Amino acid sequence: MSGRIPRQFIDDLLVRVDIVDIIDSHVPLKKTGSNYTARCPFHNEKSPSFNVNRNKQFYHCFGCSAGGNVISFLMDFNHLSFVEAIEELATVAGVEIPYENQTNFEPEAKNKLLDLQQLMAKVATFYVDQLKHHPQKKIAVDYLKGRGINGVIARDFMIGYAPDGWQILSPHFNTELLCEAGMLIFKNEQYYDRFRQRIMFPIRNKRGHVIGFGGRVLDDTQQPKYLNSPETPLFHKSNEVYGLYELLKKNPKPARILIVEGYMDVVTLAQFGIDYAVAALGTNLTTTQLQLLFRSVPEIILCFDGDRAGQEAAWKAMDAVFSVLNDNRQVRVLILPPTHDPDSLLREEGVEAFSQRIENAEMVSAYFFNHFTATLNLNSIEGRAKLAHQAKPYLLKLSDGFFKEMMLAKLQELSDFDVAPTLEKETAAAQMPRQNESQNVRYSLERRTLALLVQHPQLAEKLVANPIDWQLLDFSGIEIFKAIVQSICIERPATTAQLLEHYREKPEEKMLKALAFLPILVPEEGVEAEFTGALTRLLTQAKQTRLEKLQIQATTRDLTDQEKEILRDLSR
Ligand code: GTP
Ligand code: MN
Repeated sequence: MSGRIPRQFIDDLLVRVDIVDIIDSHVPLKKTGSNYTARCPFHNEKSPSFNVNRNKQFYHCFGCSAGGNVISFLMDFNHLSFVEAIEELATVAGVEIPYENQTNFEPEAKNKLLDLQQLMAKVATFYVDQLKHHPQKKIAVDYLKGRGINGVIARDFMIGYAPDGWQILSPHFNTELLCEAGMLIFKNEQYYDRFRQRIMFPIRNKRGHVIGFGGRVLDDTQQPKYLNSPETPLFHKSNEVYGLYELLKKNPKPARILIVEGYMDVVTLAQFGIDYAVAALGTNLTTTQLQLLFRSVPEIILCFDGDRAGQEAAWKAMDAVFSVLNDNRQVRVLILPPTHDPDSLLREEGVEAFSQRIENAEMVSAYFFNHFTATLNLNSIEGRAKLAHQAKPYLLKLSDGFFKEMMLAKLQELSDFDVAPTLEKETAAAQMPRQNESQNVRYSLERRTLALLVQHPQLAEKLVANPIDWQLLDFSGIEIFKAIVQSICIERPATTAQLLEHYREKPEEKMLKALAFLPILVPEEGVEAEFTGALTRLLTQAKQTRLEKLQIQATTRDLTDQEKEILRDLSR
């Protein structure tokens, strides 16, 4: 990267290229009505719920909620960084990027993330160098050899060595950054290296950036055996898995992914050719981690150590699993024999036998019901009631579809009781309060108004011609509403895609994406009237709210001169 890319250039690029053409060259699209559709490339599905809209220059999947402009598409589809995606678009458009010299225009937070990313890359390389050149490297090399790790796999996973010492990193890197990256600890008014005398496993995100480390002691009498990076601006343990980048590099479209417990397991499996394993980073499996993996594969196999902790972890994982399962996704469970983990078992019984275990892994449906039938006495009403009671919360998490129906049917068979009506009632009850809250009806008028503007930013003309007098208004969420409206009026984005680009990685991004695809159901020619109508109603209601609040306040305290004036205006 040779400097900053001007915002104006990115805006122009988004107008110059057509998202329909670009996506179509990666995923063939079919025209249906005003949208283009395809089977979603980001999750596995049988019928198309991936939509591309030419007017908005935006895509969205109703199945997995992936969505964004053409830059986001290239980033996600081709695993590119932001800058790489811009570079690819510029090539397609046949234009040259007018890089600016690195100045302070970038928001500070973004610069900081880039700085941290660069630092972590350098630190990982530094640890790899230590494994090759440090005077005490032998002890680390011998340890890895003793564990049967070969040089090729160590290189693929960038395995390194953090030498023994309290001040190894600080002479080479910026202390403040090291600290923010979680590589130092601050104790007794001084900074020390967090990782000392450890084998270092860099944790890379999907795009290949080093975001954290796991470090293993060389001597098993030392504690703790593994040390992970703490949470940092780059590293959120529960959103990441170890080994995904390495896996996708070998095979960008794997058929399945095996989730194991340890770093060493991932590395050993890969060395033996089972190169589709990742590890959850020593935490309970989260839905975010599963979603991340299901974006790349239709099938996940959960592999747990045979000890008690492993069995408990397997059952705990069901919380997350049931939240993300649907008809297109498959999960299987493989519990290893007691006292084994994948690393030890694979070395003991060989690849053939281990692969056979993977082939024979139990379907999650069978694992789930076996868990109950193994412990409950289903010959008694008591046992069957317990089954229904304990299985219910999991089945409620499932999204509607055949899988859910069949799981319900199985529960009905095992419990000898028609559970469906009870479950339906609970599902309905869980959704009811949301629809009944009158607040939400109000909220939806604001949402609708804003959604119309986000989806048709040219409507800003109306607002520029007729500016809103914000001090006369009051409604919940007015601050963010105002901020977005004002920025649209100032920046005048040409399309929804451009508007969203301005909010990339900002807190409002998620909300704006949701608004961009809120179903408005108004034909193109009716949009302007719809917007004017919604805005008028919103303003009338908001003025009424402001008026009522001021009138109440006037009974408890003296209003300021400004407030009195507003009250006069509003009462007119
Ligand atoms: P070895 O084969 O002994 O190197 O370890 P392993 O990969 O088999 O790991 P183990 O099954 O003991 O633990 C699985 C995972 O849990 C590890 O990869 C770590 O992520 C995590 N873990 C294990 N021990 C510790 C510990 O002492 N502290 C922390 N924070 N995490 C640990
Ligand atoms: Mn192990």
